[in-house]
Amino acid sequence: MVRIAQKRQRKLITSALPYANGDLHIGGIRSTYLPADVYARYCRLKGCDVVFACATDEHGTPIEMNAAKEKMEPEKFVEKYHERQEKDFQALGVSFDVFHHTHSDESRELSELFYERAEKRGCTFLKEVELTFCSSCKRFLPDRYVKGACPHCKAEDQYGDGCEKCGKVYSPKDLLKPECAICGKQPTSRKVEHVFFKLSAFRKELEDFLQAQSLQKDVVHYVQNWLKDLKEWDITRDGPYFGIPIPGRKNQFFYVWFDAPIGYVAATKKWCSENNENLEDWWNEKSEIIHFIGKDIVYHHYLFWPAMLHAAGYALPKAIPTRGYLNVEGQKMSKSRGTFVLLKEVLGEVAPDVLRYYMTSITPADTTDGNFAWKDFQAKTNNELIGAYGNLVFRVLSFIERKAGGVVPRPGKYSDQDKAFEKKLEGIWNVGEKLDAIRVKEAQEELFAHASEANKYFNDRAPWKLKNQEELDTVLYLSAKAVYSLALALYPFLPFSSVEVFRQLGVPAPGKWADLSGFKPGLKVSAKPLFPRMEDELVEKQVRKLSN
Ligand code: 2FM
Ligand code: ZN
Repeated sequence: MVRIAQKRQRKLITSALPYANGDLHIGGIRSTYLPADVYARYCRLKGCDVVFACATDEHGTPIEMNAAKEKMEPEKFVEKYHERQEKDFQALGVSFDVFHHTHSDESRELSELFYERAEKRGCTFLKEVELTFCSSCKRFLPDRYVKGACPHCKAEDQYGDGCEKCGKVYSPKDLLKPECAICGKQPTSRKVEHVFFKLSAFRKELEDFLQAQSLQKDVVHYVQNWLKDLKEWDITRDGPYFGIPIPGRKNQFFYVWFDAPIGYVAATKKWCSENNENLEDWWNEKSEIIHFIGKDIVYHHYLFWPAMLHAAGYALPKAIPTRGYLNVEGQKMSKSRGTFVLLKEVLGEVAPDVLRYYMTSITPADTTDGNFAWKDFQAKTNNELIGAYGNLVFRVLSFIERKAGGVVPRPGKYSDQDKAFEKKLEGIWNVGEKLDAIRVKEAQEELFAHASEANKYFNDRAPWKLKNQEELDTVLYLSAKAVYSLALALYPFLPFSSVEVFRQLGVPAPGKWADLSGFKPGLKVSAKPLFPRMEDELVEKQVRKLSN
């Protein structure tokens, strides 16, 4: 029989591009980067061909203004934050295959291509708009460049796009006593022609897209309401603007949200060019394209982006896992209230897997918001991560070290209990169903239930009481097998500690899901606790810091 080699499933996994405008905060880690990383690591173990792509989102007015505040060229400014974010991602073990830039040749070329294709297909049009203009600075003033009093609550010193006091949104021309944020003069308005994207032309395609079974139901439900009222989309910004010039338009640039998602394609292209691959082989109908995002950018990913992909003739995503916001100690994360927690601050206090475990444990597979609270973090670390898993690994391996000459014994006869336990261990791999469905929290819970089972088995069989050598060997062999199996299945969640467990078992980390071929009697073990307990002092210090 001639066998046709089965091509491996390609998975193109992306996570929302962080603005190169500051350090990473834990909200984005929870909603986007960690779930994507767990899934990417799992897919690699399963033998899929994976590209996990991301980039910094480097254009737009806030970046331009912050660069100016730091007296830096925007190019230098975004490079600085790109490097800082890259380091933070590495420290957490986020395993991007490529972490590119939107201020790049690939992004520019692809943005031009998307635009030209949309234009050729009649999906763009020109329209005159009236914008705020400063005659003294001789420039249009985007929202953030106009200040004044809120037209609703009259709060002074508010930006042109919305009021931080009362939360209402409006446009710059509604501001009372408007001022140019650069020179302080009163702005006027001026008419200018902009390029618009005909979003409404894609109603039917978007309706069809939203029918896809693989999309997240709770999100689709409310996006469907937006279909009734698709607004034409202004994709133009007037210079000076840190962005990509629109071909054929003098001093006009693509709005940052036009080139941002194209950054996914650009990052993939960058990876392809560095790995001798073709973009067309990756960004196509046969690949599974999966975008991990937070719920604040649903409109862009469920409507704008699929419409842009249609217009440009590119394949659409299969899934868009969307997660909610993160509160801190029950409060909205906010810089002014001091509840804004940076990733690097937490990683200064705890090991990356400790944070990974906690974050996953508070992130269900829907858009509900989570709460990061140090007491809860401590309880989950000490009772679950250490209580169920860390202790199991240490108890089993240190027992083998002390009582079995540091070598995993060959098993002897099996009792019914041993047989039942070994059967249960095989059930660990059923967790793949949850991971295939990107239900990461539930998958972690399932694996921790197995860790508790293994603890129970070790307690019930109480190897310290066993006099019969054969019986003892079986119990230690099976307990070590549980440790090995759990470390492998938990690798996507807790990569650093899994590698450490394999080191303690004296084997290289296996690269294949459910592959126990590396586990055998004779392995030489060396035990060391995996995680330190989280102490009250640390928790109290952190809670104090956040409530000050
Ligand atoms: O909201 C944000 O943080 C954006 N930088 C996300 C962009 S995601 C993608 F479309 F590029
Ligand atoms: Zn001015």
